[in-house]
Amino acid sequence: MSAVIAARDVRKTYGDGETAVAALRGVSLTVRPGEYVAIMGASGSGKSTFMHILGCLDVPTAGRYLIDGVDVGRLDERRLALIRNRKIGFVFQTFNLIPRMSALANVELPLAYGGVPSSVRRRRALAALDLVGLSDRKDHEPNRLSGGQQQRVAIARALVTAPTLLLADEPTGNLDSRATAELLDVFDRLHQAGRTIVLITHEQDVARRTGRVIRLVDGRIAEEDHHSSP
Ligand SMILES: Nc1ncnc2c1ncn2[C@@H]1O[C@H](COP(=O)(O)OP(=O)(O)O)[C@@H](O)[C@H]1O
Ligand SMILES: [Mg+2]
Repeated sequence: MSAVIAARDVRKTYGDGETAVAALRGVSLTVRPGEYVAIMGASGSGKSTFMHILGCLDVPTAGRYLIDGVDVGRLDERRLALIRNRKIGFVFQTFNLIPRMSALANVELPLAYGGVPSSVRRRRALAALDLVGLSDRKDHEPNRLSGGQQQRVAIARALVTAPTLLLADEPTGNLDSRATAELLDVFDRLHQAGRTIVLITHEQDVARRTGRVIRLVDGRIAEEDHHSSP
């Protein structure tokens, strides 16, 4: 099976000339199917830049990046968007749910763009909500859900397309400790079910729950820490 993520000497420079900023300075990383990985680093270390490249929201200035065996460096914007929609489920710090739409409708949305028939959409969205323990909140709009519940809806939305990679940027950044604990339980269950998860965090407690911690310092991988997940 090919690696989910294969990054080879990835570099990203913003701007040029005297104002150029080297945000990534040669990052190599392989993530295999089923791995649960945390990326840590201080502010400005390149975490978001790396996440944008891993999520096919941007392409490297130099180096190679393959997701699920597909070299994204050669793709135009339209094909990049296609890969993004097919292979990656995003979870953001700010949930990014659509207001005045039910939880179920929010989760169905990525399938609507993909032209899946409505009965199939509904069934898959219900299954995804069930996976995050929110079947009983399916008709609630986001403003009637707690932050932790909104983030679980966002995870259901990210999973409904059965992506190769679940990519989360500071998913617990806006949650209190109880909602954080619940969310980490959801990630544990997804990991046990064989999902490949990469999350970006600067919280040590969150990173500790994963099987592998990558530390970025000044655009480079400074160290890597493997341990068995609980
Ligand atoms: N769009 C951009 N244009 C110019 N510089 C940027 C841009 N995005 C990030 N940077 C710079 O790249 C470096 C890494 O930023 P970033 O990837 O956001 O780090 P982190 O997410 O770890 O805080 C920083 O020096 C930042 O100022
Ligand atoms: Mg950032």
